Amino acid sequence: MRQPLSIALTKGRILKSTLPLLEAAGIVPAEDAETTRKLRVDTNQPDTKILLVRASDVPAYVEYGGADIGVTGKDVLLEHTGRGIYEPLDLGIGVCQLVVAGRQGAGIDGSGMLKVATKYPQVARDFFDRRGQQVEIIKLYGSMELAPLVGMADVIVDIMETGATLAANGLQVIGEPIHQISSRLIVNKASMKIKHQTIHQLIDDLSGVVGKN
Ligand code: PRP
Repeated sequence: MRQPLSIALTKGRILKSTLPLLEAAGIVPAEDAETTRKLRVDTNQPDTKILLVRASDVPAYVEYGGADIGVTGKDVLLEHTGRGIYEPLDLGIGVCQLVVAGRQGAGIDGSGMLKVATKYPQVARDFFDRRGQQVEIIKLYGSMELAPLVGMADVIVDIMETGATLAANGLQVIGEPIHQISSRLIVNKASMKIKHQTIHQLIDDLSGVVGKN
């Protein structure tokens, strides 16, 4: 018997790419999840609900049991320090790279203090620590590309998909990417035990369609 299931998703790019995967696994929202103002949406499965939360909140919803499972970017997971989450499946969507970028000529030479604007303070600090580069981290919540332009930061650490946003703002990638990013299925540890059959079935179904859409 199928057990009740709640799935935390985020409006926007992740939702758009995740819905076809869920549909192939037999789960279809009962209304347009992109445009609804509701935060909890019914699906064609009587006991399966979709919760619409901010991308950076998906790990917390799953860790604290607000949702049984969720879909979020590896960038968000790298920054999340909680432990109560399994990450059983790379969904192969939302593929991009976490990079350091700056204005032409900007570099990381290990000398002096580098000002780094980012939505990912933990990941950025770890990265520069490993390189012995002293940094001042400026935490931002979006539009990071602006910070070097206005002289507020030397570089940014941000995700790059097509590179169009960097190029439009006269920025370029510095060095190798920090991390390859894609969206992951995450599962609450207790739910994985209690709802073992339903969640494993879903993981199996999703595994079968990943990369085929
Ligand atoms: C992300 C990221 C870049 C952009 C990269 O921003 O922060 O700004 O996408 O994509 P591109 O390489 O294809 O141009 P998003 O649109 O998610 O908004 P945000 O900056 O508010 O997080």
